[in-house]
Amino acid sequence: MKEMLEKAKEGKYAVAHFNINNLEWTRFILEASEESKSPVILGVSEGAIKYMGGYSIVSFIVHGLIMELNITVPVALHLDHGSSIESCKKAIDVGFTSVMIDGSKYPIEENLKMTKEVVDYAHSKGVTVEAEVGAIGGEEDGVANELMYATIEDAEKMKNIGIDFLAPALGSVHGLYKGEAKLNFERMMEIRKITNLPLVLHGGTGIPDEQIKKAIECGICKLNINTELQIAWTHDVREFLEKDKSVYDPRKVIKSGEVAMKKAIIKKLELLGCIHKA
Ligand code: 13P
Repeated sequence: MKEMLEKAKEGKYAVAHFNINNLEWTRFILEASEESKSPVILGVSEGAIKYMGGYSIVSFIVHGLIMELNITVPVALHLDHGSSIESCKKAIDVGFTSVMIDGSKYPIEENLKMTKEVVDYAHSKGVTVEAEVGAIGGEEDGVANELMYATIEDAEKMKNIGIDFLAPALGSVHGLYKGEAKLNFERMMEIRKITNLPLVLHGGTGIPDEQIKKAIECGICKLNINTELQIAWTHDVREFLEKDKSVYDPRKVIKSGEVAMKKAIIKKLELLGCIHKA
């Protein structure tokens, strides 16, 4: 992921992080990325890992699909919001190429301490680390947080312990927005300047396109998207099931959301400017 995001930083575009939930979603994302020659990050939350059957199952699915589908674009497998040092170590040990340690619910000193331990372990295995300062609002997988804007001081402290990417909470929330997203672009630019790290923007769903473009100009190199794909997929699956009440083949049901999901993926890749950047 480091090479991908350093290139994005240089080229002033962003790479998409799409959350995966099952084998089919992973396939749809990989195929759309390959088709559009975009590098891609497959993000997996701890909830999705549990749902899919465990850390190693996720790794087998992703590595297996890359092989079977002859995927040639760069793919990172990234633990999203790792809640503990143990969780990050488990992911690293089974072949994730990147982890996020999310110590945002702890005081900054505690957050720094746990992040440092993950950085030491991850780097000894060639794996990259994303960390969070401030707190991203909203709810993901049943984990809810109050939004707290990141400070420049905390961002600098986090950089100094050797992380690879920084996710400063600057107004975005997971899930749907109540009202408008209020991103603090000025602080985003200051944090970029002071840390010189590729920055990550969580809560990609529902941020207007213009604001996403501005965020990329201000240093965002990775945009996390989850809810938007869920909505696109569910919309078409619901329609399919309503239209044909006699269908019961789960493969047909899951596949009925493929076109809508791939469309949403390509649209996002176009917006981020990462098509043909593989
Ligand atoms: P959304 O669900 O708002 O797209 O956010 C995804 C995310 O930030 C995953 O870490």
